[in-house]
Amino acid sequence: MHIDLFFLPGMVSEKQLVDKTVVLVDVLRASTSICRALKSGARAVIPVEEPGEATEMREKIGPENVLLAGERNGIRIENFNLGNSPREYTEEAVSDKTIILTTSNGTRTYARAKLSDLVVTMGLVNVSAVAGRVAKAGKDIIILCAGSEGDFSIEDTLCGGMLIDRLKTMAGNALELNDAASLALLFYHNNAHALGAAIAQGEHGRCLAEIGFASDVSLATEVDSIPVVPILKDHRIILDND
Ligand code: MLT
Repeated sequence: MHIDLFFLPGMVSEKQLVDKTVVLVDVLRASTSICRALKSGARAVIPVEEPGEATEMREKIGPENVLLAGERNGIRIENFNLGNSPREYTEEAVSDKTIILTTSNGTRTYARAKLSDLVVTMGLVNVSAVAGRVAKAGKDIIILCAGSEGDFSIEDTLCGGMLIDRLKTMAGNALELNDAASLALLFYHNNAHALGAAIAQGEHGRCLAEIGFASDVSLATEVDSIPVVPILKDHRIILDND
C-alpha cells in the first residue's frame, strides 16, 4: 500500500486523488468541529468554500433544521448560527440539524477530492478510528493536510504522522511512503510524548489562544476522544456506517 502525504492541498492535483482513499486533516479546528458535530447527532455537514455559497446552499435546500456555521480569522461569520469552535457543537445545538460549514482552510480541501473513492475527515480526536477504516478500504492513501493560510502546519503534519504510525502497526513494513509521509512520521515520533505542547506552541495554536480559544486547542489534541469516521457522500459529510 502506498501512503502519500501532502503538506498543503495545492501540492496535489485532483487527478492524483482519483480512485484513492483521501484523508483530509485540519486539526485546528475544522476536522475537530466536524467530528464533534456528527457525534452530537448532526445529520450532515456540508462543506463549502465561501460564506456566500453557504447562504445560497441554505436557500437551495430550505432553512428548516439547517444551520450556517463557519469562521474567518477564527471568529464566527456575521449572522451565522455557529462559529468553528468544536465546543459549540453540542447535542443541544446540532442534534438533527444539517450544518453548512465554511472555514478559512479546512472546508476548501473537500472540493479537490470529489473524484476520490473514499474521503475521510481526520483530526487527532478520531485518528485510530480513521486508521481502522482506511486500512479496511485497502486502497492507496493520500493524506491531505489543510495547513494554515497556504503555509505548512505543525498540527496537521503531526496528525498525518500519527495515522501512518497506526497503519504501520497494522500492516508491518508493507507500506511505501513518499518523502513527506516519512518526514511526518519522523516528526510524530519526535513529538509523540508531548503532542499537545507542540501544537499549542505552533502558529495556529498561539493564534487561537490569543483570540480566546486556547481550550479548543486542548480539546483538539485529545487523541481518540471522538472515535467517529466522517465520510463524504454526495457532497455531504456523514457518519460512516460501514
Ligand atoms: C480552518 O479551516 O482554517 C480552521 O478550521 C480555522 C479555525 O481555527 O477556525
